[in-house]
Amino acid sequence: MTSSSRKPIRKAVFPVAGMGTRFLPATKAIPKEMLPVIDRPLIQYAVDEAREAGIDQLIFVTGRGKTAIVEHFDHAFELEATMAERDKSLAILEPTRIQPGNLVTVRQQVPLGLGHAIWCARAIVGDEPFAIFLPDELMIGQPGCMKQMVEAYNAVGGNLISVLEVPEEDVSSYGVIEPGARSGALTEVRGLVEKPKRGEAPSNLIISGRYILQPEVMRVLEAQEKGAGGEIQLTDAMAKMIGTQPFHAVTFAGKRYDCGSKTGFVEATLAIALEREDMRDDVRAMALRLLG
Ligand code: UTP
Repeated sequence: MTSSSRKPIRKAVFPVAGMGTRFLPATKAIPKEMLPVIDRPLIQYAVDEAREAGIDQLIFVTGRGKTAIVEHFDHAFELEATMAERDKSLAILEPTRIQPGNLVTVRQQVPLGLGHAIWCARAIVGDEPFAIFLPDELMIGQPGCMKQMVEAYNAVGGNLISVLEVPEEDVSSYGVIEPGARSGALTEVRGLVEKPKRGEAPSNLIISGRYILQPEVMRVLEAQEKGAGGEIQLTDAMAKMIGTQPFHAVTFAGKRYDCGSKTGFVEATLAIALEREDMRDDVRAMALRLLG
């Protein structure tokens, strides 16, 4: 274990440079991460989850056409001045406020894969452990997923990934872990494979969009080796760290919605609407009516 393995987690990387092809044409001019679930864009849920976990230095790995994400967290002078003039409360904009200097963007010029996107943040991450959020995976829990992971990190250090169980027939779409010893929500990770063929997966525990990694992963990513789908895969780089540093999976106690897929997005919208006090009764009545 390196000396950096128990440094506090202060930085989070949000890779948002993907093309979002599954949501075209909606994502032609609008980043996938700006699609709203009810009244908050996906990126807002992820940033809220990071802050709840005590992480306030936000690193966005962006690409062409992604400026709306940065603007979302900017001071909107005209909007705020007009709202104030009309006596409208600005409290609704509170979640979009970021301390000056706490938001940094780096560009991934070509979307060569998630591993490459993370590597693009290496100079800002520096020599400390960091969190990663894939904002299209919406994690709803009490406490939130990253807070659960930071608590686990404080106990075991090293590298952690969030996992959840899926039906065997679905594993080929995901990164899958080879599990070792289990203790409560923690499972030792013995191996990792990205998008295994059906029947060759080491388990049905999939990596679910939240990570705490040691900075050494950047050196592994430096090699820029291509994996599944011809992309530079984060899973492959993490797999190379197993055995050199502690590596655990945390089973998330909560609900995960795959908002990178259309049905997952609809599910998230409906589930969250049914939880929200301000709308659940109306939405429930509407859903029952639609279902006949
Ligand atoms: P996805 O596999 O969901 O790809 O990326 P995508 O481009 O966002 O969407 P589809 O599949 O074309 O519809 C998982 C995460 O990794 C980021 C994406 O922005 C998303 O948050 N990513 C992926 C990058 O930042 N760069 C890449 O080169 C690839």
